[in-house]
Amino acid sequence: MNDGHPTRTMHLAAHFPGVNNTTVWADPRSRSQIEFSSFEHLARTAERGLFDFFFLAEGLRLREHNGRIHDLDVVGRPESITVLNALAAVTERLGLAATVNTTFNEPYELARRLASLDHLSGGRAAWNVVTSSDAFTGENFRRGGYLDRADRYTRAAEFVATARELWDSWPEGGAPGAFDHTGPQFRISGRFGVPRGPQGHPVIIQAGDSYEGREFAASAADIIFTRHGTLEAGRAFYADVKRRLADHGRAPDDLKIMPGVTFVLGDTAAEAQEKAAEIRRQQVSPQTALLTLEQIWGVDLSGYDPDGPLPDIDPDPDSQLAQGRVRHGDPRALAAKWRALSEEKGLSIRQTVIEATGRQSFIGTPEAVAEEMTAFVRAEAADGFILIPHLTPGGLDEFVDRVVPLLQERGAFRTRYEGTTLREHLGLSRPVAKSWPANGT
Ligand SMILES: Cc1cc2nc3c(=O)[nH]c(=O)nc-3n(C[C@H](O)[C@H](O)[C@H](O)COP(=O)(O)O)c2cc1C
Repeated sequence: MNDGHPTRTMHLAAHFPGVNNTTVWADPRSRSQIEFSSFEHLARTAERGLFDFFFLAEGLRLREHNGRIHDLDVVGRPESITVLNALAAVTERLGLAATVNTTFNEPYELARRLASLDHLSGGRAAWNVVTSSDAFTGENFRRGGYLDRADRYTRAAEFVATARELWDSWPEGGAPGAFDHTGPQFRISGRFGVPRGPQGHPVIIQAGDSYEGREFAASAADIIFTRHGTLEAGRAFYADVKRRLADHGRAPDDLKIMPGVTFVLGDTAAEAQEKAAEIRRQQVSPQTALLTLEQIWGVDLSGYDPDGPLPDIDPDPDSQLAQGRVRHGDPRALAAKWRALSEEKGLSIRQTVIEATGRQSFIGTPEAVAEEMTAFVRAEAADGFILIPHLTPGGLDEFVDRVVPLLQERGAFRTRYEGTTLREHLGLSRPVAKSWPANGT
């Protein structure tokens, strides 16, 4: 392995679920995704572990399956920025990242809310810019409008640029200046209602993997939240994205790459493996296995036996059975891949789903996990990790108690917060207001 950066330290973030089905809600240790005490627990643990930030995922429409709420998901949760403002009052240094969609919001309103969070938290705000644009989500909004896939990053890029104009329109310590933005997506002018925040601009995170997504991140984001959590895929993604930065006049360190990863700890390697297998079985119940398959096949498969073989019928590529999900590739190709996997290893439906959807990244003793994470960062497969615990909200406790001290011993993670703002934790410069006159004339 290329160990070219023996002293590189990593960044860490704690993920609180918004839409996904990583959390084993059936586990008696899982608690509410609505009560403030849950958010507070995870945030306080992350801050005790000196994490860079707390990350809140979010969807704008409850996903449905066959006309019913998709009960594997987080079904209902308070809105991100509101939760983070409350967390700002019970934490001191931890960054606070909200997932907010550019397709269904407006720059003036969102820029105001994010600048407010930056003020109330003393410079700890971050915005995870997401672009999910499906018509199903669009039905929740007054205009019912949504964007073609091709246009969503066009809107996102102009949205972020416009938000930056708004933040920059109020110079450091000065009076509010005027802004005047005219572009294909937005034509707005006036004076911005919130003074420039402590960070200048909140930290911008991007989550999305397409060509357009990567280009958008390379031009405008400070962090990428990626799914590429294996060493090989991570290195390829890392090299690809870092290479793109130069085209936008940016340095490699200006954009941090942070895959979302899971972890399972045990006192021995064997115990950790057994726990990991048990978690996968909990995450993929017989019922979940069939629902997951239906999301690909797009047809009712309730008559199939989860412990039997995969369906021999072809998927319906135009199905509306599962709504609100981002589709990853052609369902026929995915079905063929899963069939091949099942045949090769002799797996049932449930076993195939467990095997094919498993995203367990780091499994082992605390020493082994600390070692592997450190090697990962030093091999330039990531700049850090967004940890996705399988229990909400207590799933990070063990990591902070047992792995963080080992990372610190290895010189791979900070031993105290040196700055107060999230930009300082991440080693990112503070943007200077440049383009607008102080008196707004
Ligand atoms: C790791 C990761 C996390 C994401 N989290 C969210 C989320 O919480 N809410 C949301 O609406 N979309 C989320 N998305 C979806 C992206 O914003 C985007 O719409 C989707 O990945 C499709 O974009 P792409 O074609 O560029 O990949 C996430 C995507 C990734 C890769």
